[in-house]
Amino acid sequence: MGEFWVELLESFDESPELFEELFDESPELFEESPEVFEEPDCELELAPLLLVVWVFPCPEAQAARDASTRTPHKKIANPERLRRTDIRSSHRHVGERTEEAAPGPSGSCRGPERHYDARMPLLGLTLTPAGEERLAARPPQLALSDVQTRDVEPGRPVRLLDARGRTRAAGVADPENELLRLWSHGDESRAPDAAFLRGKLAAALELRRTLGLADGESAYRLVNGEGDGLSGLAADVYGPFAVVTALSRGLLGHARLLAQWALELLPATGLPLRGAVLKARLKASGNAPERSKDDVVGETPPDKLVVRESRVPYEVHLRGGINVGLFTDMREHRAGLGRFVRGKRVLNTFAYTGALSVAAARAGAAVITSVDLAAGPLAWARANFALSGLDPAAHRWEISDVFRFLEAERARRAAYDVVILDPPTVSGARAALWAQKRDYPELIAAACALLPDEGGHLWISSNTHRGPSVLKQVDAGLALARREAQLLELGGLPPDYPTPLNWPAARYLEVCQLRVGGPLPD
Ligand SMILES: C[S@@+](CC[C@H](N)C(=O)[O-])C[C@H]1O[C@@H](n2cnc3c(N)ncnc32)[C@H](O)[C@@H]1O
Repeated sequence: MGEFWVELLESFDESPELFEELFDESPELFEESPEVFEEPDCELELAPLLLVVWVFPCPEAQAARDASTRTPHKKIANPERLRRTDIRSSHRHVGERTEEAAPGPSGSCRGPERHYDARMPLLGLTLTPAGEERLAARPPQLALSDVQTRDVEPGRPVRLLDARGRTRAAGVADPENELLRLWSHGDESRAPDAAFLRGKLAAALELRRTLGLADGESAYRLVNGEGDGLSGLAADVYGPFAVVTALSRGLLGHARLLAQWALELLPATGLPLRGAVLKARLKASGNAPERSKDDVVGETPPDKLVVRESRVPYEVHLRGGINVGLFTDMREHRAGLGRFVRGKRVLNTFAYTGALSVAAARAGAAVITSVDLAAGPLAWARANFALSGLDPAAHRWEISDVFRFLEAERARRAAYDVVILDPPTVSGARAALWAQKRDYPELIAAACALLPDEGGHLWISSNTHRGPSVLKQVDAGLALARREAQLLELGGLPPDYPTPLNWPAARYLEVCQLRVGGPLPD
């Protein structure tokens, strides 16, 4: 395999936005056929790298698009200048509150990460005129180019000042992504210290309690970046453990603090949280993708853990990769599928750990065919069946490239009543790389070809981040297939994934269910 492709594929894992930018800038690359994709032995290795692209759309990639992804983050060129800015920014301005932050639970600094927590003055950054204008809409982030000083340390708490020196917002600098993460605005601008994070976490927990998700055994999203006022950070709970993810190395200190507070707050409210895994999803630096090793706060979770979703058990693996085996943003769409499958022949493409297959089997589907490139996740899927008391042997498991499988099934005139399409944003396992935003209509048409002549049902997910809406893809796919359909259901993210009204980029998921009619006459 060429070195370029090794680097590209590795970078999928930690930096899907790098791939998206590459796709936008050089679509011709995706016409090529790197030989790795033809080698069956590579499948196991390749699949986990590919699927990550689907699950972590990066809303901030849009804002960062203008910046070069290959530029290593900036070193502080002139520390003297930084110190001067500090002094200036520590002056109080009219109407501004001063934070005397409580120290974090441990206050420890580890590795390259650092949490600026205690009584340190915020670094004042003066907005450009365009930045001031953009800030008026109270966005959860701004580009680093919206302030006049761009040399700022990763993770550094900052306040943004207008031309008159008044504080307009506060947050943290994320130069690795060329962003400023804005965690508070206007008169409410506050230092992102321990007390602040604790407040955000308490408010986030309150919502999940209201939703009935915080019950000590379920999997749910506890903190959803911008939607919970903490752009750049996410926390997911899996029963008694959590995974806290930072979108840059500089945010790891804040992620650690969030994990530490979660380990205090949840048990204090009767929830048995025992440990949290810290993960960083990093942008590429130079030509090499960066990686950060998982770190654990509190108790280390077991390699395999069983969590529940609406009382259905699923196995998750919290350490190792970015993906743990269960996508909680699909919870309601798994339940939605169940209403259409009783007694039906179901084809689940890109099945991964079989969560949708489990949902279909529990809802009484006659037989489910689960297809995935990777043998490991399919074995995991069978374990998930067993956990639900379902017999995996009563169903079909195909380790195959979906595109080839669909062709072969069409050739042998196979038919399925329900076809599930839940592809990653890109897939490399066929003659040319497949990209959702470009090639989805063909995939939808290939799925339609397996529906019976009298019609059938499609369940289709789409990552709409910087791509067309799912209904646009469906429209184009049905036109290719020469079929008509009715929309039965259209949904997006569940309520434990709140998003700001003024930040549509955060709403990356769309799922629809369709009743598809028979082929139209020529
Ligand atoms: C986003 S995950 C699918 C999530 C899954 N449907 C669920 O409900 O959890 C993507 C999966 O697609 C698989 N995959 C990627 N490209 C593929 C291909 N060309 N053929 C078959 N599987 C593929 C990966 O191995 C991975 O398991």
